[in-house]
Amino acid sequence: MSTLHEIAKAIVAPGKGILAADESTGTMEKRLSSIGVESNEDRRRAYREILFTTEGVEAFISGVILYDETIRQSGSDGRPFVDVLNENGIIPGIKTDTGAKPLANFAGETVTEGLDGLRERNIEYARLGAQFAKWRAVITIGDGIPSDFCILANTHALARYAALSQETGLVPIVEPEVLMDGDHDIDACFEVTQRTLTAVYEQLALHQVDLPGTLLKPNMVLPGKGCRTAPPEEVAEATIRCFTGTVPAEVPGIVFLSGGQGDEEATANLNAMNALGTHPWELSFSYGRALQAPALKAWGGEDAKADDARRAFFHRSKMNSLARSGSWTTEAEQAA
Ligand code: 13P
Repeated sequence: MSTLHEIAKAIVAPGKGILAADESTGTMEKRLSSIGVESNEDRRRAYREILFTTEGVEAFISGVILYDETIRQSGSDGRPFVDVLNENGIIPGIKTDTGAKPLANFAGETVTEGLDGLRERNIEYARLGAQFAKWRAVITIGDGIPSDFCILANTHALARYAALSQETGLVPIVEPEVLMDGDHDIDACFEVTQRTLTAVYEQLALHQVDLPGTLLKPNMVLPGKGCRTAPPEEVAEATIRCFTGTVPAEVPGIVFLSGGQGDEEATANLNAMNALGTHPWELSFSYGRALQAPALKAWGGEDAKADDARRAFFHRSKMNSLARSGSWTTEAEQAA
């Protein structure tokens, strides 16, 4: 069994990043209904099997985040998904939060739940083969929000989750997501992201979390969806400026979420950050939608199209792998 530091480093190995495939049953229902497929356990399993059995993708994908249902499932040949991933050298991980719920007394804000019984659940997930965990806190930008209290409540919970994960040998992926929703400008995203990350590292220190045994999964610094689209160079400059002096250098890696960016946009933005030169942390990806959207569409729920879906997933994984070293180009994108 590897140590926390080794697992964290392996996840952000050069050229590699994470596939976030930990959509809850409710989110999977939305994703499948977008392609006209009814969400049931068999279809969710069939779709995940396509992703996990994409040949050669292990050159680009170091880890996969699973959901409670998925970590217990097997491929059609009977091999547990955890074994399928391990045999390809891909590290299995697990989402351990139970979702963002309305924060009492704070209209429009949420707090992420899941701490009750977490120690016992972590022990079970580690037994099932998980080596890392994920917990997503959600911060919304709006009129007078986020409140300082929302940031405090969410970062306190993130730190409790991180400490409990490490106790069981799971590397915590600490995910404070400042949402893209809204018409705020890039400066507002910068300010809220900086406030949030400052609180994250204060809370992790108070909870005595070992930073080299963690990874950060943040949003990029972007204008709100209703504002405008910023060019990759602007996103890269603002994001690195925000993280410098806020995210300690002992953190081995930052694995960005895609958060509703387009597939190529998420790749181009990560590429621009890595093209700026070396940083104290590895800058990688932990994308859900930006890695899966073309594959989901190509599959369309038809088993006969599984190979089309695999090709689409392989391509997005390869493009993001190139972005890990700033060597992604539009030519590589079109060469598919
Ligand atoms: P997206 O990349 O689709 O934002 O999903 C990543 C994730 O795991 C959110 O928690």
